[in-house]
Amino acid sequence: MKIGILGSGGVAQALGAGFLQRGHEVMLGTGSPAKLDAWASQHPAARIGSFADAAGFADIAVLAVKGHAAVAVVQAAGPQCLAGKTVLDTTNPIADAAPVDGVLQFFTGPNESLLERLQHAFPDVRFVKAFNSVGAGFMVDPDFAGGPPTMFICGNDAAARQAARTLVENVGWEVADFGTATAARAIEPLCMLWCIPGIARNEWTHAFKLLKAG
Ligand SMILES: NC(=O)c1ccc[n+]([C@@H]2O[C@H](COP(=O)([O-])OP(=O)(O)OC[C@H]3O[C@@H](n4cnc5c(N)ncnc54)[C@H](OP(=O)(O)O)[C@@H]3O)[C@@H](O)[C@H]2O)c1
Repeated sequence: MKIGILGSGGVAQALGAGFLQRGHEVMLGTGSPAKLDAWASQHPAARIGSFADAAGFADIAVLAVKGHAAVAVVQAAGPQCLAGKTVLDTTNPIADAAPVDGVLQFFTGPNESLLERLQHAFPDVRFVKAFNSVGAGFMVDPDFAGGPPTMFICGNDAAARQAARTLVENVGWEVADFGTATAARAIEPLCMLWCIPGIARNEWTHAFKLLKAG
């Protein structure tokens, strides 16, 4: 599979390395290619290009940019290059304002989400929320005493959610498919919850698991 990752930060680098290791072809898209010189030299099979290059390259894409820039980056990449494609949306709508008592602030309200904003702005793209509720260091091969953790996903297109499920399971997760994009109103704030022990006590080594009664 050709995976185009829009982004150059920790998430893009972690997922890029993981997908390469699974035998996929990977291109990272960025506006600042020099930032990726060290990563690219460690991952010579990876391609580096612009946001538009990565979108055009992708059979399946990953959006891994700062939340404030998410809509602008998809616009810059060219929504026509992503039309009909599954795009795993890792972004969180984190505001610039400082956390309050360890709780991040969002620039979205409780009855909306960044995923819904993206889906509304680009109706032909099949967005699926994924990978937003854990730190980049645990996105690939998460190793926890309680077994594989759960990645919560949602999006309006059932086939895109299935494609995302396959990719997320491929890097070591259980997947909980919570349905349409509206569920992102609940999934995006898991980022706030995940970060509280980190911001308050510098504890960043946990992940969520959904337990079901037997
Ligand atoms: N870091 C984590 O552990 C983690 C975990 C879960 C979810 N997330 C979410 O995943 C996303 C990526 O996180 P990250 O930590 O990898 O990276 P980040 O530092 O949040 O964002 C870096 C990326 O955003 C792009 N960007 C930032 N401002 C921009 C602007 N004004 N215009 C265009 N592009 C801009 C950068 O572009 P260039 O490539 O051109 O520099 C770069 O690709 C975020 O939404 C974050 O909330 C992060």
